[in-house]
Amino acid sequence: MDNKTNGRFIVFEGIDGSGKSTQIKQISRRLKISGYTVYSTFEPTDGPIGSLIRQMLSGELATDQRTIASLFAADRTDHLVNMENGIRHKVDQGAVVLCDRYYFSSYAYHAQYMDMEWVIHANSLNADILRPDVTIFIDVDPKICFERIKNSRSSFEMYEKIDIMKKVRTNYFKAFDALKGLETIAVIDGNSTMEAVENTILNEVKKVIKIS
Ligand code: TYD
Repeated sequence: MDNKTNGRFIVFEGIDGSGKSTQIKQISRRLKISGYTVYSTFEPTDGPIGSLIRQMLSGELATDQRTIASLFAADRTDHLVNMENGIRHKVDQGAVVLCDRYYFSSYAYHAQYMDMEWVIHANSLNADILRPDVTIFIDVDPKICFERIKNSRSSFEMYEKIDIMKKVRTNYFKAFDALKGLETIAVIDGNSTMEAVENTILNEVKKVIKIS
């Protein structure tokens, strides 16, 4: 069977500064060379709900953490089903969708402020619409991530503080544990070179897709 005709949904997760976007670019390049149709996307989206969220994360709009958590779930539903470029449609058309963050980000980030069970429940509709073929978690030491962010930016978003990043990492592992029977998760050691991390990720991608 030629898997190239079958769409896939591959999610990348990690704390801020873990190198998700760089790795997504590399994996996208490798898949395209092998003939796959690749669609890269991200959350929060650049749609209307995602734009509202970004204004909140930058501090431009004052808000409450529960409101942010609810908006992320709504942004995700729109990201999945909107008629223009919804993920569900792309996967159905046969694309390999690479997504920078999905519901595990919600579980990890919002469980700092509310019950993780609530966040999982708030996203159950999204899980019903589409579960990732694999969620790749790039695990990088929060201290390294924080240094990377500090050296590359002049302003910081709401969650870009070292103690928050440590808590978020812990929450990711709690969520992986809570959902281990339902979800396919690959934890990658992201502390080595970019090329080594890329190759490890590619091996995980190969498990759900055929690469020449
Ligand atoms: P991020 O991937 O860092 O985007 P960018 O690098 O383009 O700014 O995401 C922005 C922030 O959003 C990040 O701190 C994590 C947070 N976030 C949540 O709190 N909940 C979610 O459900 C998602 C998808 C992201």
